[in-house]
Amino acid sequence: KQTNNMAKRTNAIDLSDSFEKIPVKIFPSSKDGSVFVARQIADFIRFKQQKKEKCVLGLATGSTPKSLYAELVRLHREEKLSFKNVITFNLDEYYPIHNNALQSYNRFMKTQLFDHVDIDPKNIHIPNGEIEKDDIKEHCRQYEKKIKDAGGIDLQILGIGNNGHIGFNEPGSGIYSKTRLITLDNSTRIANAYEFANISQVPRLAITMGISTILQSKKIILMAWGSAKAPVIKKAVEDDDTEQVPASLLQNHDDVTFVVDKSAAAELTRNKSPWLTGD
Ligand code: GLP
Repeated sequence: KQTNNMAKRTNAIDLSDSFEKIPVKIFPSSKDGSVFVARQIADFIRFKQQKKEKCVLGLATGSTPKSLYAELVRLHREEKLSFKNVITFNLDEYYPIHNNALQSYNRFMKTQLFDHVDIDPKNIHIPNGEIEKDDIKEHCRQYEKKIKDAGGIDLQILGIGNNGHIGFNEPGSGIYSKTRLITLDNSTRIANAYEFANISQVPRLAITMGISTILQSKKIILMAWGSAKAPVIKKAVEDDDTEQVPASLLQNHDDVTFVVDKSAAAELTRNKSPWLTGD
């Protein structure tokens, strides 16, 4: 009885919703979070297969989704998950960069996922870091058109930069921005320098889907692991939305979920100051 009363009291003063403007699922580890997201994707692909429909996925790069792609490859190998009905659009690519350069996102996607599953290569779309500068505008326009022609993105997977960027939409990116060439923040070049021989090798530019391209996806899942991401997760989820923290603009979407591990959730009020949320 006492436990019941406690539960009632706790419910009565559960204020976590008034702090968090985006639903957040917290997992013990990045592996658990990745398995959860992989399961969501697999269920959705199979649901679309039953209806004989294509499934349009928006995909991300960086260290965050590596464990997700490993789990999808496992599901393909061990649980017969087919990618035959899957169409993909990647968020971004450095510019300029050769598609087969070690640091290129084209190459990343092949080694992490596409080379190991049965996706039709003609269904794969990634911005091209090899094109001539004069052709970039048209390339970006075509990229947007291809997304539309595919029926729009059903499920967009995102990571998040320490400065709040999504894709390569750096702070200051507008809510109406579309696929375009952008200049990378110095903080992003420093954060990503580990992939290159040294910082001077990190490209200064990138092609990225815009904030509005991302917001047009029907469903969005943003993943974040580790304590380095905790401050920006708090800002994106609890503070007012602002172009200075592009991920906070996701507060304007009605089907977005953040999937984070315990460390990335550490700065949320429910963890940092639980007495304020009634826990
Ligand atoms: C990269 C990518 C983003 C990614 C982010 C975080 O530069 N352009 O799409 O989400 O930065 O990277 P990581 O997952 O390695 O922390």
